[in-house]
Amino acid sequence: MPPNENLEMSMGSERTAPVVPTASDRAEPGVAQRVLDAITARPFVPSAELCEQFGVSKDQLKAIYADARLSATTQAKFARSPFFYLTKTIHRLTSDHARTMQVLRDRRPQNPFETLELFISADCNVNCTFCYRRDRDYGDQRILAASEFLAIIDEFADSKGKNMDVSGGLEPLLSPAVAEVFAKGIERGLRVNLYTIGNALHNPKIQDLLMQLSQIRISFTAHDRDSYIKMMGVDHFDRVTKNARMLMARKQETGSPVGIGTSYVVTPEIFRDIPKAVAFAQELGMHFFDLRSVSVWAADDYSPEQRAELGAILDEVREGQRSGAHGDLKISIADTFASITNPEANPLPYVNHDLVNMLVHYRLTVTPAGKVFPLNILGQPTREDERFLIGRVDSQHSIAEAMTTKKPIPFEPELLLAHDKTLLIALSKLAADLEFGIALDESPFVPV
Ligand SMILES: C[S@@+](CC[C@H](N)C(=O)[O-])C[C@H]1O[C@@H](n2cnc3c(N)ncnc32)[C@H](O)[C@@H]1O
Ligand code: SF4
Repeated sequence: MPPNENLEMSMGSERTAPVVPTASDRAEPGVAQRVLDAITARPFVPSAELCEQFGVSKDQLKAIYADARLSATTQAKFARSPFFYLTKTIHRLTSDHARTMQVLRDRRPQNPFETLELFISADCNVNCTFCYRRDRDYGDQRILAASEFLAIIDEFADSKGKNMDVSGGLEPLLSPAVAEVFAKGIERGLRVNLYTIGNALHNPKIQDLLMQLSQIRISFTAHDRDSYIKMMGVDHFDRVTKNARMLMARKQETGSPVGIGTSYVVTPEIFRDIPKAVAFAQELGMHFFDLRSVSVWAADDYSPEQRAELGAILDEVREGQRSGAHGDLKISIADTFASITNPEANPLPYVNHDLVNMLVHYRLTVTPAGKVFPLNILGQPTREDERFLIGRVDSQHSIAEAMTTKKPIPFEPELLLAHDKTLLIALSKLAADLEFGIALDESPFVPV
């Protein structure tokens, strides 16, 4: 049977109303509690497996889910899940019911794109030890002219795309097209997010535009000058710190709603510095601080003792959030840490590999040379691989044309960034539950 045929048959065409449980549907309270504990610890486990594990029927499980949706206490419990972003993503996908069903049915959704990840620069003047590109650039490829980037943004906006992440690849602020790209995205009403190393944020041409972006995230894997030089390979700590403070001051002056924050790439060598990095982000007055685990080549390098120590540090950070010790700083801890600190909690065996190609409908990567790839990593100079190229785009060729191709992307976890992994796990969980007979809107996750 083709991969999605089974799913297709079980889904039917119409949206079903969530089941209202009757008294006879209810499992013993103790059992219900154990099921909820299991969902909190491993929200990726398919419902069919939960029924088997806890000896409950499908209707009893649906009743547990229905009660969970209505209970603020249960939702608060889910919010403390080590896979919190997975629960949020499942909720987002179930709320976007029609589109998610189209994606799961392997049909081109009416709104084919959500986020355009536009890599506009072929340069970087920093040398982060952890960088995916690892001393490589795009070689002698022809880099698109500003007008070609603008045509791509127009097509994306015309097709009802919502978000544009201006990122890399390499360092976006070093692109000669950066001001025009920001201006076009803003003019077209996109939510424009910038991912940058922050050492060129003082460019006078972009000052007003920066205040009109939705989010600016500065990669800042350091808490002082020495740690900056060690991780970023250059002595730019003072410059970036000055730029970050300048951005915060300008936001204050102008009343701009732009969210400004930093990200910190955690490696086995520096995880003990997390508390210092949190304190530094707080001192800079940042709004958010994203803790992400190094991916691609070092995530498995922790010893069992280091895993336990990392777990304790992250718990302390979470506790600091709850108690208000970090002030207004919003800290996000990527779900990938959950599998490092507890290798038993591994969602990858549950992933439906056929869904990898569907990720393009959520996040599509275009390189500075206009190559369209279905995953961010495949657009990095070190990983660019024509076998996975789905097309090219410039002022003559559209994104829509590129999207007509599918590639047999091998399922290699290191090809997936944290957000790709979360999306794929969420889609896999929903597909498995649909096949079992649990509709999207019967999911237990609803944020409080
Ligand atoms: C590839 S960079 C491109 C934009 C810009 N040059 C920058 O560094 O922000 C985007 C993000 O990827 C992160 N990153 C790079 N290599 C990584 C790795 N091996 N694992 C996890 N994150 C990584 C960087 O910290 C940065 O936040
Ligand atoms: S992470 Fe960004 S700033 Fe650092 S080397 Fe890579 S591209 Fe350059």
